[in-house]
Amino acid sequence: MSTNVVLVTGAGGFLASLVAQALLEDPQTPNIRLIITDVVEPRNPTKASDTADILTVKADLTKPGETDSLFHTRFGIPDTVYCMHGIMSRGSEDNFDFGLKVNVDSVRELLQATRKYGSQLKHPIKFIFTSSCAVYGGPQPHIITPETVATPEGAYGLGKLTSELFINEFSRRGYVDGRVLRLPTIAIRSGAPTGASSSFMSGIVREPLKGLPATCPVGTDLSSPELDLPVWFSSPETVTHNLIYAKHISSSAFPKHTRVVCAPGFTATIREEIEALRQVGGEEALRLIKFEDDPPTKRLVDSWPQRFDNTYALSLGFKADKGGILPIVEKFKKDVEAGRA
Ligand SMILES: NC(=O)c1ccc[n+]([C@@H]2O[C@H](COP(=O)([O-])OP(=O)(O)OC[C@H]3O[C@@H](n4cnc5c(N)ncnc54)[C@H](O)[C@@H]3O)[C@@H](O)[C@H]2O)c1
Repeated sequence: MSTNVVLVTGAGGFLASLVAQALLEDPQTPNIRLIITDVVEPRNPTKASDTADILTVKADLTKPGETDSLFHTRFGIPDTVYCMHGIMSRGSEDNFDFGLKVNVDSVRELLQATRKYGSQLKHPIKFIFTSSCAVYGGPQPHIITPETVATPEGAYGLGKLTSELFINEFSRRGYVDGRVLRLPTIAIRSGAPTGASSSFMSGIVREPLKGLPATCPVGTDLSSPELDLPVWFSSPETVTHNLIYAKHISSSAFPKHTRVVCAPGFTATIREEIEALRQVGGEEALRLIKFEDDPPTKRLVDSWPQRFDNTYALSLGFKADKGGILPIVEKFKKDVEAGRA
């Protein structure tokens, strides 16, 4: 079996690029050979002097031949696949068929290729998938537990849930060794705004801390009751840590019927986030937030769950952020000042 050959899809994006970097630094994945791929050629995360073996592959995973080619590189068959590409919430809501093509069809294609090439190895290939809390919708209990039934109210959640079901069944059959993390909303993310409905939850902090204007699509001003919307958050650092950790859990830690874990998070309201911005960036930062109520965004984020029981994820060894939203905003400011964000 080829060892420590890892394929990461969506590696031109925010989270997969952090995962690629973290894999290079992971002591439990020594001498890694990393294949990073995206529809736009991903940036090599190493400096020229680094010696790690990295292949950057431009591939559109909605094209079957391109998926197959990822298993035919000079690194051989990967032992781990991070399936992280996708069309985000608002993008798949507005472009239903395209969203299904990327978030369902191309994931299933990658899963089948992982099964096919894994059968040539001694062990099934680990298939780590970034799902989302958007799988939940409709009436929900106050706190989501592993027993809560997922009934999405959007195309993005539908796509994620569909892929989860395939991964569970492929794992039960021993075709792949799946690990699925339903991720909280990640904040504060660096970079440009995205097509995710949650994008503003980073933008209303990121842009003002850089001295730039930001738009908040819920509420009409700082006193709007809509700002009391609770959101289930995790920091990028904690999510990245948990995605690396997912690779190292023994498959025997999971029950037979599901590989799905709700990654740990914490609840904060948009108002608390804005208050953290005020404490870290001052009143002038707050003045950069412009309110433009956008009903479709509000409908989607309103349907997402707000509180989870972290017990199962913590029992498996995943970790949670401590201290709420303020330390995350403080860290982001330091990153801005250091030119890292
Ligand atoms: N950021 C969050 O808050 C969050 C929350 C829950 C789940 N997730 C999941 O985590 C993963 C990464 O999220 P992100 O925020 O980094 O997203 P992102 O939009 O930054 O990255 C997604 C990447 O997928 C690529 N992609 C899209 N279509 C493709 C195709 N046909 N072929 C190849 N690549 C394609 C895009 O080019 C992009 O670089 C996604 O699966 C997302 O659904 C993210």
